Amino acid sequence: MHNAFLGVKPAVIEWRQFDSEKHQWLSADENQLTPNAQLAPYSPAFDDIYFNPQDGIAESTHVFLEGNDLEQRFQALAAQGSPKSFNIFETGFGTGLNFLLTADLWRKTVASRGNAEQEPGLHYWSVEQFPINQKNLRQIYQVLDIESDYSATLIDNYPEALPGVHQVKIAHNITLHLVFYPLDKALKELALPENFTFDAWYLDGFAPSKNPDMWVKGLLHFMALHSNSSTTLSTFTVAAALRKPLPHYGFEIEKRPGFGRKREMLTARFTDKELSSPKPTLATPYIKTRAQPKKVAVIGAGLAGCALAHKLHQLGVEVHLYDKSGLCAGASNMPSLMAMPVMSVDHNAYSQLTFHGFQHLRNYINRYPELAYSHLVHQLPNRKYSQFHIDQYQQIYSAQTWDKHKEWFQFETLKLGESSVKSLKIPAIQVNGQEFCHHLIKDLPAVQLHLNTEVTHLSQLSDYDQIIVANGYLAANLFKDAELPKVTPMCGQLTTLKAQLEHRTPVNHDGHIAHYQNQLVIGATFENSSNESIQRKNSIKNIEQVNQRFGFSFSEKDIADEHPGVRATSYDRFPFCGYFGEITNEGANQSIWLNYGFGARGLCYSMLCAEVISYAMLGQPSPLSKTLLSRISPLRTSTLGTNSTAL
Ligand SMILES: Cc1cc2nc3c(=O)[nH]c(=O)nc-3n(C[C@H](O)[C@H](O)[C@H](O)COP(=O)(O)OP(=O)(O)OC[C@H]3O[C@@H](n4cnc5c(N)ncnc54)[C@H](O)[C@@H]3O)c2cc1C
Ligand SMILES: C[S@@+](CC[C@H](N)C(=O)[O-])C[C@H]1O[C@@H](n2cnc3c(N)ncnc32)[C@H](O)[C@@H]1O
Repeated sequence: MHNAFLGVKPAVIEWRQFDSEKHQWLSADENQLTPNAQLAPYSPAFDDIYFNPQDGIAESTHVFLEGNDLEQRFQALAAQGSPKSFNIFETGFGTGLNFLLTADLWRKTVASRGNAEQEPGLHYWSVEQFPINQKNLRQIYQVLDIESDYSATLIDNYPEALPGVHQVKIAHNITLHLVFYPLDKALKELALPENFTFDAWYLDGFAPSKNPDMWVKGLLHFMALHSNSSTTLSTFTVAAALRKPLPHYGFEIEKRPGFGRKREMLTARFTDKELSSPKPTLATPYIKTRAQPKKVAVIGAGLAGCALAHKLHQLGVEVHLYDKSGLCAGASNMPSLMAMPVMSVDHNAYSQLTFHGFQHLRNYINRYPELAYSHLVHQLPNRKYSQFHIDQYQQIYSAQTWDKHKEWFQFETLKLGESSVKSLKIPAIQVNGQEFCHHLIKDLPAVQLHLNTEVTHLSQLSDYDQIIVANGYLAANLFKDAELPKVTPMCGQLTTLKAQLEHRTPVNHDGHIAHYQNQLVIGATFENSSNESIQRKNSIKNIEQVNQRFGFSFSEKDIADEHPGVRATSYDRFPFCGYFGEITNEGANQSIWLNYGFGARGLCYSMLCAEVISYAMLGQPSPLSKTLLSRISPLRTSTLGTNSTAL
């Protein structure tokens, strides 16, 4: 059952119809599907149906919504003046029926009342190893006759079958956190703050006898760690494997009448449980309880700094952005920047990080589509990806992609210059660096923007309780008396040509070919140096590269503009993103955070890294797994435990 994607793979769904004479579920034809057809979606892998079409809605409502007394609790929440969120954790997202019913109850009881600004938010976390594809979801909602705005938004924004936590905004006060992992992995990987609790648990794996993996002891320990004195639990099963250990984890159990012909079901209320704190790891600083930030300084107004200023400002934090030059004056100042996820045969940690980064960027671009000049790139074989690799990636990644993105990970033959080339279309986003940075900070009050202000010493920032170092390749040398992780400066140059091609979608070979404002942008070069000035030899290199590969005949006279910059490359290609340590500055305590080392992937990392730091600072769940957090931790280069004295 395990594949490259940590075991996550699309569910196989068949349809079944109940034969009342034989008292059995028998195979049914997909073509019989009509609204209210009495067909049940069935999982051949678990030999179980997801719900009984006759009373699926009533059963879910009885077991999970009523089992957790949600209507009364939502009403009580709505009646309170102060906004408080309600967090639910479900094992087994399946069809999303429980979620849609809960969201609907929320809409009726909480969302429809009072001032939208003051409304608490519903956060629904659900773990699923075998996501059902969009087409099947649509069919299922038809059969159940529960199509709504929420189901449409869910289908439209349903994430690809890739491991990790995927946030789907269903309404302004309803967020679905889809955790695509096997349950045991999810319990280890979710990076929830120490004091973060859920208000209700829905245990909805297939029956323990058929699927013991969904009823592991680790789940009970996780529930005890993340429950509060009002937390409840409900499930359809009263199996001893669950019922017996629950009290040992602080849950007081109560059997209630089951649904329909089922005699009993189980509910429980959390009382209390002393648990030892988990051992610290590199992920711990991201989930530690901290004092709320008062005033934050971000040093560097490139992609890294602007995305952070944007996110913190959006979250209501007072953030000030400093740059020694203008806005987006460093490596981010490129006419065309491409973000593309990185493929690998085993979807390794680097691929996972870039796919997450790409998704977070996409979430922003979906809200502001005018910023993107392309959503696709044609990948050709190059020094890194041979044709053999590309063929493998096509197979591996297209299997995890839904019909909605039919174009992704498909081959196409392109005519480029003299050559005809086979390309793999992969998801990408192309932006202009200046436009993107300006857009990110458009709502930041002018007094919080400190341009032409070089930070040379921490005493300049004694007003702040939080300082974020985001000044690219110059970061490591920022503070004379502090050892920050080193990066290698890697200078490079893009070249704009007064030319256009018939083929408009960007191409990635050993560099990019993209259009911006009806000109062609090619490059970039790579050189181990911190030279920030324009170098004609680099543009000639860019031209020769495309001429040789595609048979173009561009020359120096076609050059319209040249764009040099210096990348900051870390020793392991992962960025340095997170908490670094505490210092005392003029008697006051300051927390230092790092956000640099983006190498050649600044666009891909910008939004994700901004969220990782902002949520860690504010004590909210991290969007990344503990494994990935430990890979981007700025403390990975030092011995754990000596971090607070690193400065
Ligand atoms: C030629 C080229 C092409 C590239 N193409 C792509 C691409 O297609 N896709 C992609 O994702 N990435 C690409 N990159 C990489 C990308 O540009 C970087 O990863 C990204 O810009 C890094 O952003 P940053 O904010 O960390 O650094 P920068 O954009 O370099 O910003 C750092 C800022 O800090 C300021 N600063 C420095 N020191 C101080 C100080 N002491 N006080 C105050 N301010 C200070 C600087 O003025 C600068 O504005 C490319 C890079 C180059 C050079
Ligand atoms: C009964 S269904 C859940 C129904 C769902 N709550 C709904 O509202 O439709 C159980 C789900 O658990 C998922 N599942 C089974 N084993 C799993 C595991 N080890 N880790 C994560 N999910 C698993 C199945 O793919 C299935 O979607």
